[in-house]
Amino acid sequence: MLKELQLSLLVILLLSCGFLYQLTLKPSCLFSCLPPHKSQQGPEALLGKGRSIVFLETSERTEPSPLVSCAVESAAKVYPEQPVVFFMKGLSSSMQLPPNSTNPAFSLLSAIDNVFLIPLDMKSLFEDTPLSSWYTQINASAERNWLHVSSDASRLAIIWKYGGVYMDTDIISIRPIPAENFLAAQASRYSSNGVFGFLPRHAFLWQCMENFVEHYNSYIWGNQGPDLMTRMLRVWCKLEDFQELSDLRCLNVSFLHPQRFYPISYPEWRRYYEVWSPEPSFNDSYALHLWNYMNQEGKGVVRGSNTLVENLYRKHCPRTYRDLIRGPEGSVAGESGTGNK
Ligand SMILES: *[C@@H]1O[C@H](CO)[C@@H](O)[C@H](O)[C@H]1NC(C)=O
Ligand SMILES: *[C@@H]1O[C@H](CO)[C@@H](O)[C@H](O)[C@H]1NC(C)=O
Ligand SMILES: *[C@@H]1O[C@H](CO)[C@@H](O)[C@H](O)[C@H]1NC(C)=O
Ligand SMILES: *[C@@H]1O[C@H](CO)[C@@H](O)[C@H](O)[C@H]1NC(C)=O
Repeated sequence: MLKELQLSLLVILLLSCGFLYQLTLKPSCLFSCLPPHKSQQGPEALLGKGRSIVFLETSERTEPSPLVSCAVESAAKVYPEQPVVFFMKGLSSSMQLPPNSTNPAFSLLSAIDNVFLIPLDMKSLFEDTPLSSWYTQINASAERNWLHVSSDASRLAIIWKYGGVYMDTDIISIRPIPAENFLAAQASRYSSNGVFGFLPRHAFLWQCMENFVEHYNSYIWGNQGPDLMTRMLRVWCKLEDFQELSDLRCLNVSFLHPQRFYPISYPEWRRYYEVWSPEPSFNDSYALHLWNYMNQEGKGVVRGSNTLVENLYRKHCPRTYRDLIRGPEGSVAGESGTGNK
């Protein structure tokens, strides 16, 4: 009897020690742990530290495709201590509706601790930037390529305001990007705008927004996107060809070698959907751009196919692979979407 009493006292003591220990941990969590009430976070609170990974969906769609889910999940896995913020236009125009928690990809992403799905409100986003005057004058429903153009504008404004890394939703992260201020070369002397990162309020992005408005023409594909980044980079420095595998430096901006994100170039995009032997190691890459806009035929990932893309999903976005990827008979719908170019 006495023994049992001693034992239960011991258990109580241990439990309270554990509780006290947790209490002592809490204060440090105020600074380093991710916020507990995910849904109540506004962009300022989330992005304020300038270390976010940002994704965008400028269509009304709130049901991420498997590829979008993989892009976001893989970023959350590579950057576990940083908020991964997915801005969705569809969440703002349907404010009264609850977020689509019945959609498997939506609920999968919501359940990841450091992923935040938040509304994209362009009007307030463009406030205090050169894009504001442009946005208030434009009639979005009459614009050509509006989903892409508005995505090009939004990514500039978000990263200028808050800092962090922007990524298209067809980019699978495989290891952290070591650079702070960077652009990604798609080829020698040509920049993409599918991934870039800057500290908050960087002059390069401000000038990009000014140039965006000055040279705005939605009829020219890429004029506000990769062409804009390339134009501005040429203003900032004299671009040279890449030597071997090293990155270039342009004032305080790194111009990263095409191998970092585009080891498979866009004319070869189908290679991702093929079986390789042996598989490439991608040792010189930080993330892989899957060129989804090239994928008009809607190639998807099939469980058991042993394609490069299947093995990438299995390794870099295991939850997406487990929940959203089916075998050849239960086929997964084509992976169209915007925010991936
Ligand atoms: C939510 O997702 C489900 C399943 O994908 C879909 O059938 C439904 O239409 C979606 N609802 C909204 C409001 O987006
Ligand atoms: C915007 O463009 C649409 C489509 O061309 C047109 O129907 C609408 O009247 C325009 N709105 C304004 C305010 O001009
Ligand atoms: C980078 O260089 C530009 C041009 O010299 C300068 O305006 C900007 O403040 C610099 N930014 C940082 C973060 O050093
Ligand atoms: C890639 O890196 C891994 C781990 O560092 C190493 O084992 C492998 O040999 C490398 N592969 C190539 C092709 O360099």
